[in-house]
Amino acid sequence: MSCSKLINGLPKAELHLHIEGTLEPQMMWDLANKHKITLPFKNVEAIAQAYQFNNLQSFLDLYYQGADVLRDEEDFYALMWAYFLRCKNDNVVHTEIMFDPQTHTARGIPYSVFMNGFRRAIAQAKAELNISCYLILSFLRHLSETEAFATLEQAHPYYSDITAIGLDSAELGNPPTKFTAVFEKARALGFKCVAHAGEEGPPEYVWQALTYLKVDRIDHGVRSLEDAKLIAYLRQHKVPLTVCPLSNLKLKVVSDMNQHPILLLLKEEVIVTVNADDPSYFGGYMNANLTAVKQSLGMQNEQLIRLIKNSFRGSFLPEAEKISWLNKIDQLAAELLG
Ligand code: HPA
Ligand code: ZN
Repeated sequence: MSCSKLINGLPKAELHLHIEGTLEPQMMWDLANKHKITLPFKNVEAIAQAYQFNNLQSFLDLYYQGADVLRDEEDFYALMWAYFLRCKNDNVVHTEIMFDPQTHTARGIPYSVFMNGFRRAIAQAKAELNISCYLILSFLRHLSETEAFATLEQAHPYYSDITAIGLDSAELGNPPTKFTAVFEKARALGFKCVAHAGEEGPPEYVWQALTYLKVDRIDHGVRSLEDAKLIAYLRQHKVPLTVCPLSNLKLKVVSDMNQHPILLLLKEEVIVTVNADDPSYFGGYMNANLTAVKQSLGMQNEQLIRLIKNSFRGSFLPEAEKISWLNKIDQLAAELLG
């Protein structure tokens, strides 16, 4: 039995995906035409060819520029709906999706525009594709904590649509402690919390996210392996790491996929998961990430199944639903492995 049958055949959860990072070159091109925006690219192929990065910042510059074509409710609906069709294709049945309100409000696009677009696609995905979605409102960490507070306040009419609060953008120089007070407020409001940490930043930033932001899971966190005490903490407290292999390769967090530490994290019994991050920019959605890891690291079936089960263990789904998916995976894996 080949791993690819397992990759395609097993249901999966996506826990680390930025909806703005699913904007494919063709959609960027079409929306630019629709809104009469002049892009600094001569055609769709030129957009795709520009996706060569040296580090996180070089990606973020293009990512924020690309998001400028998202202008009306229909654009946000189309972006989210296109992503759910990718999920259907990859057998992703549950999603926990990050969005960056400040990328849009800073351009004069109010919450009502993107939230109504997202809501419509999410309801349609549940009804037509049986895919569930939780939303994670992410603060941009290169901006101030005061601006994060305002962003949380403006989201008030949409709190019932939002499950968790996150933290993304430029990590180095913007430590988690910068956002201690606003995360305390978010927790008091009943939100789950996540934060990007230990992607480019040191293990100390992962400690800070755990200690000061009291996050329920860490996005990326691959640099945690530099600190044995931290790994022991993550294992003992069952803090999931949402790891993004193709992202790590594209942003040069790892020099080669065969150097990726995901199986080391798995061997340390950390609840590590595979995720797509910004699939349009990094070259693939969920199954492409699983396939890349499998091909470069020589993953065993048992390891693959564990990574996929971790995607539900690490999710914010109710316990009963997690157990139901875990049992279903065991049953399907047994059938697929004959
Ligand atoms: N890291 C930080 N910020 C981001 C990322 C990422 O991988 N993707 C989108 N915003
Ligand atoms: Zn990310």
